[in-house]
Amino acid sequence: MSKAATSPELKRAFLDHLEETKVHVTRLEQAFELMGEKPRAKKCDAMEGITKEGEGIIEETEKGTATRDVGLILAAQKVEHYEISTYGGLAQLARTLGRNEVAEILATTLEEEKNADSLLTGIAENNVNYDASEEEEDD
Ligand SMILES: [Fe+2]
Repeated sequence: MSKAATSPELKRAFLDHLEETKVHVTRLEQAFELMGEKPRAKKCDAMEGITKEGEGIIEETEKGTATRDVGLILAAQKVEHYEISTYGGLAQLARTLGRNEVAEILATTLEEEKNADSLLTGIAENNVNYDASEEEEDD
């Protein structure tokens, strides 16, 4: 998505969050270890659907346009919201189980997901949405 993005702020936001996401994987491994469980990769159907939607936006919009950026932000925020609900729910579950260390790990990632989401909102509000509204429609 960073490759498809036009705005430098959006490219940066995608790249930075990609790095953060690698740390999130490490944190999940720690959480599994604390729970005495072995982590296993499992395909997420919902995330696959959201990812496909993002690919569709890239296909249907023109390269180098703010309109494409608007679509990318919408798709990326769906990813963030899905992650926020999942990390939020799991952190709460860990708290209920008295696994506070695990809850803390999940809550740290949850905060980073929320920050990524707010950053995308800011990029949309500050320039991309307006720029897209000024672009010509071609259909
Ligand atoms: Fe995320």
